[in-house]
Amino acid sequence: MPMPVPLIERYAARLPVTAKTPRLTLGEGGTPLVRAPGLERETGIAEVWLKIEGANPTGSFKDRGMVMAVAKAVESKATAVLCASTGNTAASAAAYAARASLRCAVILPAGYVAVGKLVQAIAFGAHVVAVKGTFDDALRVVREVGASEDVTIVNSINPYRIDGQKTAAFEIVETFGDAPDALFIPVGNAGNITAYWRGFTEAAADGLAKKRPVMYGFQAEGAAPIVRGAPVEHPETLATAIRIGTPASWQTALAARDESGGAIEAVSDEQIVEAYAFLARVEGVFCEPASAASVAGLRALAQAGRLRGRDRVVCVLTGNGLKDPERARTLAGEVLEVEPSGVAVREAIA
Ligand code: F0G
Repeated sequence: MPMPVPLIERYAARLPVTAKTPRLTLGEGGTPLVRAPGLERETGIAEVWLKIEGANPTGSFKDRGMVMAVAKAVESKATAVLCASTGNTAASAAAYAARASLRCAVILPAGYVAVGKLVQAIAFGAHVVAVKGTFDDALRVVREVGASEDVTIVNSINPYRIDGQKTAAFEIVETFGDAPDALFIPVGNAGNITAYWRGFTEAAADGLAKKRPVMYGFQAEGAAPIVRGAPVEHPETLATAIRIGTPASWQTALAARDESGGAIEAVSDEQIVEAYAFLARVEGVFCEPASAASVAGLRALAQAGRLRGRDRVVCVLTGNGLKDPERARTLAGEVLEVEPSGVAVREAIA
């Protein structure tokens, strides 16, 4: 095995990295790109690939952007970081802040953060504050509290977050020697679709890729402001990671959609759960519900016959299934308890 190279170091030439930027790392990036034969059979698409971002250190894609944002916070001599979050940004901020010896405060929507993410933020020693409202309220509060010389906001309104996250697009291009025909991605606050589009655009401009992919973003039906063209005041979806009514990167998400000739559409919670179960049971890949929105969208578009000529596609699976154990339990059904004997077990599994 070669020595691991920190993400910041590996892409230093393509990131706002200076000699003074600390080479902070927890081993982020370099995530698996895995073929999905079950989805290929179902959709008739020649190649379906899954970018498994749940393999990042804190279990989501946020680590790519957070390592960059926290490194730049250290470089600017900040002593604390602050963010609003549906959970994953909080877990990531808390981890990198701990690593960099910064204080960290995370503002969460009360009652709507999956338990795995919440315990991560607590374990990493962040100040965890829940506001009685949505993620959008939490982000408004963060903007109100505001940044200062000491405090850096590490939501994706911090441009370094987007810079770090675009590295996932570079990795995909490196693997294929070109961009895929299409990319499927969940959309919440819309930072990640913005980041991938920027990454693919830079890769094409530098001659690393001959083309850019068509970008297909998916919001949950009950939290689909971009699809509706208006903010959603009371967003609702079981995919709590993307339960967002006013995305911060709305305009750049529209640009990614329009410049790529793609679409941003809604998928129902039922479609999300079906894709979530399919990924686990057929592909052996366990992601969190919000991540499965990308695959729910792929299945819907394939079924509608809208993906002809898209021969190689990538679905981004943004977070690990263990983030949301309560949702996972609803898949598992009941666990049988039997006497510890061969007879009883044979009967139970027959
Ligand atoms: N998937 C997961 C697992 C997420 O946690 C998020 C966003 C998204 C998709 C959507 O990405 O916001 O860039 O469009 N989570 C944020 C958070 C909002 O606070 O962890 P996006």
